[in-house]
Amino acid sequence: MNIMEPEGIKKQAYDEIETALNSADLEAVRLKYLGRKQGKITLALKELAGMSVDEKRKNGPFLQQLKSDIESAISFREKEIGEKGAVIDVTLPPKKIEVGHLGLITQAEDEIRRIFEGMNFSVIDGPEIEEEKYNFDSLNIPADHPAREMWDTFWLKTEGKKKYLLRTHTSPVQIRYMERHEPPFQIISPGRVFRYEATDATHETNFHQLEGLMIGKDISLANFKFVIEEFFRRFFAGKTVKVRFRSSYFPFVEPGVEVDVKLDNAKWLEMGGAGMVHPNVLEAVKYDPREWQGFAFGFGIERLVMVKYGVPDTRMFMSGDLKFIKKF
Ligand code: DAH
Repeated sequence: MNIMEPEGIKKQAYDEIETALNSADLEAVRLKYLGRKQGKITLALKELAGMSVDEKRKNGPFLQQLKSDIESAISFREKEIGEKGAVIDVTLPPKKIEVGHLGLITQAEDEIRRIFEGMNFSVIDGPEIEEEKYNFDSLNIPADHPAREMWDTFWLKTEGKKKYLLRTHTSPVQIRYMERHEPPFQIISPGRVFRYEATDATHETNFHQLEGLMIGKDISLANFKFVIEEFFRRFFAGKTVKVRFRSSYFPFVEPGVEVDVKLDNAKWLEMGGAGMVHPNVLEAVKYDPREWQGFAFGFGIERLVMVKYGVPDTRMFMSGDLKFIKKF
């Protein structure tokens, strides 16, 4: 080292320290200036030994200062590199930016749609703000019928003679569809429904149902059993599926049943209601009940998803909890 050019050396050392990208680079710089045998500063300090007292006084403190400046520059850089990992390497692939994805219920709805389309069902939509007529009257639930209490209702405005509400089930889509189409047909309608009730692990004010309807000349509950078993077999792929009906009451079907499912050796689980469309419902849409008949069903989509994925509480779907959302 030429100790006559100390500033040049300092600048060079600092440049090299600053551009070191990792600890190996930095170690090389350290060796170059401070290495015990070949380090430039080390050698210069050794040269001091052969100098006169005056020269020692002149150069000694300066060299010691330079040595300690370089040491602290190196350890400062070491810390920077440690914090950042390897400092900006422009050839690395960029960090993935997190983007959102469809919620579990939407994903399940898509899957349900595909399964039924595969069985030649059409997928129909209906409004979430519904008229009393479609949600109740045409489904054989007149105004003072006690069965209305089966559905706790969010009532909305009355406009003229029309009373509006948030639909309490997807069954009104049956009426809307039949009013505008001639049988035979088979449809499903998945969608959001609303209930004015207290929430707990199995109840939400806002949830989803899957409605189904098949009308033809000789459709029976046996056809329904086949269709619904086939659906469960595909939706719960890999499990053995048993289906049983228990007799039940819904105003828009006769007979009405509850549908239970048994997956592998687990216990029987209730999945929803179904039955043969009531003649009053067929008449409400001007079908001749002596000519046309069919089955209808309504299942809870949250229920299906909870069973399939082991979700313990239906409120989790609406919670916005990222840990839950990111799992699916
Ligand atoms: N709409 C009924 C409910 O929300 C479920 C249901 C039962 C739908 C029987 C149907 C059916 O189509 O046939 O409780």
